[in-house]
Parts: sequence; C-alpha cells; structure tokens
Amino acid sequence: MSENILKISGLKIAYGGIQAVKGIDLEVNKGELVTLIGANGAGKTTTLKAITGTLPNCRVEGNILYNGQPIRGVQSFNLVRKNLAMVPEGRGVFTRMTILENLLMGAYIRDDKETINADIEKWFGVFPRLKERAAQLAGTLSGGEQQMLAMARALMSHPKLLLLDEPSMGLSPIMVEKIFEVVRAVSAQGVTILLVEQNAKLALQAAHRGYVMDSGLITMTGKGKDMLDDPKVREAYLGEG
Ligand SMILES: Nc1ncnc2c1ncn2[C@@H]1O[C@H](COP(=O)(O)OP(=O)(O)OP(=O)(O)O)[C@@H](O)[C@H]1O
Ligand SMILES: [Mg+2]
Repeated sequence: MSENILKISGLKIAYGGIQAVKGIDLEVNKGELVTLIGANGAGKTTTLKAITGTLPNCRVEGNILYNGQPIRGVQSFNLVRKNLAMVPEGRGVFTRMTILENLLMGAYIRDDKETINADIEKWFGVFPRLKERAAQLAGTLSGGEQQMLAMARALMSHPKLLLLDEPSMGLSPIMVEKIFEVVRAVSAQGVTILLVEQNAKLALQAAHRGYVMDSGLITMTGKGKDMLDDPKVREAYLGEG
C-alpha cells in the first residue's frame, strides 16, 4: 500500500490561451502537512481547483490520484463523499447560521451521527474561540474567526485530505499567527493537509515539506526547514538576502 493520499503528475491546465499550470508533479503522504507557496498568479488555486473538481471549463492534462484512484474530472460533490475537503479562498461560511449549525452542516455526509457531538467538542478544544461563540451567527465573526470556522466545518467531514487556500489572507499579523497555530494543531491531530500560502515563512516553518510554484511550474521542493535555509527561497520569498 502506498502512503500517498495525493499524487499529481504532469498536470497542465489552460484557460483558453493562458497556460496557468505547465506540467507539475506534487505529492502528499498520509499524515503530512505540505505547503505550496508562490507569488500571485503562480497557479496555486488553479491546482487546488483541479484536485477538487471545481475548475471552470478549461483544458486539463496529466494525472491526479487521490488514495490511489484517478480523480481528474470527478465532480466536487462526489469528492466530498470520498472525504476530500477544501477551504477555499474567501472561506464561505454560512453567515446566517450559528457556529454550531455551521459545524453540523460540515458533518452532513457522515453516517456516524452519534459521534458528532464528541467531534464538535474535540475541535472546540483546538478552536476555543469558536466554543465561546457557539451560538453566535457566523456572519458576525471576525475574518480570522470565520477562517477558523471554515476550517473546523471542513474537519467535521472527517477529511482524509484537507486543502486550505491561503487561510491567512487578509488577516492581521496576530490573527495570522493564530491561524498557523491552529493549522499546526490540526496537523498534530493526524489530519493530512495541503496548505496553499503566500506567507512563505510561516508556511515553511509549519510544514513537513514544501513546494515553490512560479508561473505554472514547481521550481523547488524539499523539507520545510531546509527550504527556509535555502538562499534562493530566502531571497525570492522571504524578502532576505
Ligand atoms: N477562470 C479563469 N479564467 C482565465 N484565467 C484564469 C482563471 N482563473 C485563473 N486564471 C489565471 O490563471 C493564472 C493562475 O491563477 P491562480 O488563481 O491559480 O493563481 P494563484 O497562484 O492562486 O494566485 P494568488 O496567490 O493570487 O491567489 C493567473 O494568471 C490567472 O489570471
Ligand atoms: Mg490563489
């Protein structure tokens, strides 16, 4: 049995004449926290959308294996049933529902209903801010709190792979630190995560492994810690050198 949860090979994606992804290989093993970093427009979100079956009409080539099964072109609602969860850019919590209701929505595909409450308590342990506000409408939460709720809701579906698209985007520095703490805590619970981030430093500090994407190509990969020390990464992505 392979330990791969996700194995992407030779992935190419073109929107009309624009080649957004130009043939990339990327894998995520069971239990890993892997980060995909890179500048605006590098193709990170496009790559995540290819995994979750949410691309608009465009040309896709290459292979995406999830749990050893090809999923390229599989519709997103079928992937949720395979325990693949994504927290998209901009989050999308149900603003007119309470936090608790949002979490219950996250569990709708589960058939082990009796363990849902225990699970809510478990994730409230990781996200204490949400516990304090369980009865509050999600629309009244701060941006960072909504991000946490979106993550917690995704976790309620028991994902085998959790995809996070720029969870720190638009948040204050303190909230960014908090979000990364939470991502680490979720990873420490054994959840396999692919984290797309522009905050290269925090992402590489948190991740087991990283990939750098630049103009549709993977230009570098390695252990998070090693990449933090790499002069090329430091110069191009950490604003040093
Ligand atoms: N629906 C679309 N139609 C046409 N071009 C698109 C579409 N979505 C993305 N693109 C283009 O594909 C390229 C990659 O975009 P993508 O959103 O994947 O980048 P990204 O790495 O996620 O950037 P960011 O960090 O800014 O979110 C960009 O040049 C973008 O303009
Ligand atoms: Mg993006």
